[in-house]
Amino acid sequence: MADWISFFDSDHSIYVNARHREVHARITGGGMLAYVNAGDAVLDYGCGEAAYAERIAEKAGRLMLCEAAPKLREALSARVTSNPKISVLTPEEAAALPDASLEVVILHSVSQYLSPQLTDTLFLLFRRLLRPGGRLIVGDVVQPGTPAWKDALALLRFGARDGFFVASVFGLLRTALSDYSKLRKDAGLTRYGEAQMLEKLTATGFSATRAPVNIGHLQTRMTFVAKPA
Ligand SMILES: C[S@@+](CC[C@H](N)C(=O)[O-])C[C@H]1O[C@@H](n2cnc3c(N)ncnc32)[C@H](O)[C@@H]1O
Repeated sequence: MADWISFFDSDHSIYVNARHREVHARITGGGMLAYVNAGDAVLDYGCGEAAYAERIAEKAGRLMLCEAAPKLREALSARVTSNPKISVLTPEEAAALPDASLEVVILHSVSQYLSPQLTDTLFLLFRRLLRPGGRLIVGDVVQPGTPAWKDALALLRFGARDGFFVASVFGLLRTALSDYSKLRKDAGLTRYGEAQMLEKLTATGFSATRAPVNIGHLQTRMTFVAKPA
């Protein structure tokens, strides 16, 4: 396995059990919903399983889910096919969306898996797709100086608080022995300080601020709200 997309397309144990998956979806979906107004056209880029999708679609006018991992995308399509408000896109299809056609773009827990160059390319794409007054939400940005053990400890705390502590211990062991550790070492995770991310967003045509709280449970990570400048 050479890249993060293949990792997310595999049978990984990022979610340690069904309870973890459910709590993750509840917290992440709730955090995203705060940025969506009734009737908005929303693109969730790098959506993963998007177990929160139906909840967001209830409020949004349209929800486009873009996922690069093919098996994950297929399973997602099969799950949401009966919901007329939701469509599932490849990255190529997202790149072909019309100018100024969206109110909200969400890139959550994805920037750490992208090269800085690819992130710039995507920010320029999102700038083109957003209507004036629209917003780009970049969540779960990993800060420099976040070693793997801190993420592991955060998962154990999350598990203890939300009722999946034992599963989180076994999940961490499985992850440590899996391709994740090797990928984290080889492909690495891209990290940004607050000023660096703000600079990147400004350079690609946005006026951005850091949100007071991160979407998702990890408050060591950051969320940014960016509007077309
Ligand atoms: C941790 S998941 C985030 C899923 C979802 N956004 C959430 O917060 O629950 C990371 C996502 O990044 C996507 N990803 C990783 N590398 C990518 C790349 N080079 N291009 C596009 N998407 C990528 C993966 O396919 C995966 O869906």
